[in-house]
Amino acid sequence: MPNFYYPFVMDNTAKITIGEKTYDLNIIQGTEAELALDISSLRRQSKFITFDDGYGNTGSCESSVTFIDGDKGILRYRGYDIANLAENSNFLETSYLVMYGELPNSAELENFSDRVSNYSKLPIEVTQAIKALPLSTHPMGVLASGLQALGGAYPQFCTNNRGHDLESFDEAAALIISTVPTIASTRYRNSLSENMPSPSPSNTYCENFLSMMFGNEDGSGEIPKSVSNALDLIFLLHADHEQNCSTSTCRMIASGGANPFASVAGAVSALWGPLHGGANMAVIKMLNDIHDSGDDGSRFIESAKQGKTRLMGFGHRVYRNYDPRAKILKSACDEALEALGVSSPILSIARRLEEEALKDDYFVERKLYPNVDFYSGIILQALGFPTDMFTVLFAIGRAPGWLAHWKEIAENGKKIHRPRQIYQGSQLRSFIPILDR
Ligand code: CMC
Repeated sequence: MPNFYYPFVMDNTAKITIGEKTYDLNIIQGTEAELALDISSLRRQSKFITFDDGYGNTGSCESSVTFIDGDKGILRYRGYDIANLAENSNFLETSYLVMYGELPNSAELENFSDRVSNYSKLPIEVTQAIKALPLSTHPMGVLASGLQALGGAYPQFCTNNRGHDLESFDEAAALIISTVPTIASTRYRNSLSENMPSPSPSNTYCENFLSMMFGNEDGSGEIPKSVSNALDLIFLLHADHEQNCSTSTCRMIASGGANPFASVAGAVSALWGPLHGGANMAVIKMLNDIHDSGDDGSRFIESAKQGKTRLMGFGHRVYRNYDPRAKILKSACDEALEALGVSSPILSIARRLEEEALKDDYFVERKLYPNVDFYSGIILQALGFPTDMFTVLFAIGRAPGWLAHWKEIAENGKKIHRPRQIYQGSQLRSFIPILDR
């Protein structure tokens, strides 16, 4: 047990006094000196539960995957700073790190990459399931359905003896990481009534994805390195982000004993909304609307300050500082656009919005800074992805994180997740026959 950070805490207990009675609560300290009161015995002792609408002050688990210090703008996967990984690693290596806890040696990385690339073709039933969905189904809905169909096509990785099948984890994880881009491209090419080239083992993960999305049907044509590198960086920066809405959903589903396919499909649905993964689409819509209306951004900032709208891509539940991922993406955005020879009219609007917001009292007082979504959409648009696929790209990047959390639950989770509530409804009343209502 490390020394306690706060000198006034003499041992690992705290006392809470309610009325005349005092209760002892254990104190938990994390490896980065985060402190928590363990209230798990409070209701048994006192009849009180704690109330924390939106879970802003609730630690739902102990985890060793990702550390965030939102005040300082720090993000680390398994102890490695995000900027260090962005500079030196790539998405597949980082996925291994996130899921297994250590950077792989050469043999481990080769093995993992081979396993991922072996699975990149979809079983025919999954392709048929995707094609059977209405064409108007949102790509996130297609991804969630495709993952459930994938689990069905590989029942050997879904055997639930006591709930979690950890023995199949390596195969299931490689299969999911490998096929999420294939599900996404299958739906995209299907919507254009086009066939897509098969993934090639000689291509990198991102080259294969880009080729399936935009390549010639016979697989010919080159994917520029600048394009695949920019996409790889976006995936790496999204690989995990501790207990956000979709990851908590994944853990919640997994805590009931569900398999990785069902848990990740649920996480995809949770990611969909505009306040979470859907924000990258909302940013582009916002920037286009500002551009089309002839506003230079100042009118939009005023309406955000009046609460009529939100400056999408700004603010974060955890970061009260510049999101470190946004910092990396801001410079990557300039480089990617230059390498692609694309000039984006909305990039200058984004820069101006950022500049204005960062010196405006409303945003300064509330500590609202650009988040990961502020610049990622501009790069994705420049790479040629349709806007309605942006959240799917977030999901592809986040898949290793969800799987790492599924594995943590499978290895350590002892209890089904089951929060309590404060009931505020009607008290007991008698049934009223229909003619008397
Ligand atoms: N524009 C204008 N005002 C804002 C914004 C914004 N983007 N974000 C927060 N505020 C204001 C909010 O109105 C409130 O003001 P007041 O105190 O006067 O009522 C104050 O700041 C605190 O806001 P909050 O809603 O309590 O903050 P939260 O921690 O619950 O919400 C958030 C975090 C990300 C949902 C929110 O900042 C937001 O809606 N941002 C825009 C959507 C977005 O970019 N989401 C992507 C998040 S990063 C990717 C991910 O991890 O999913």
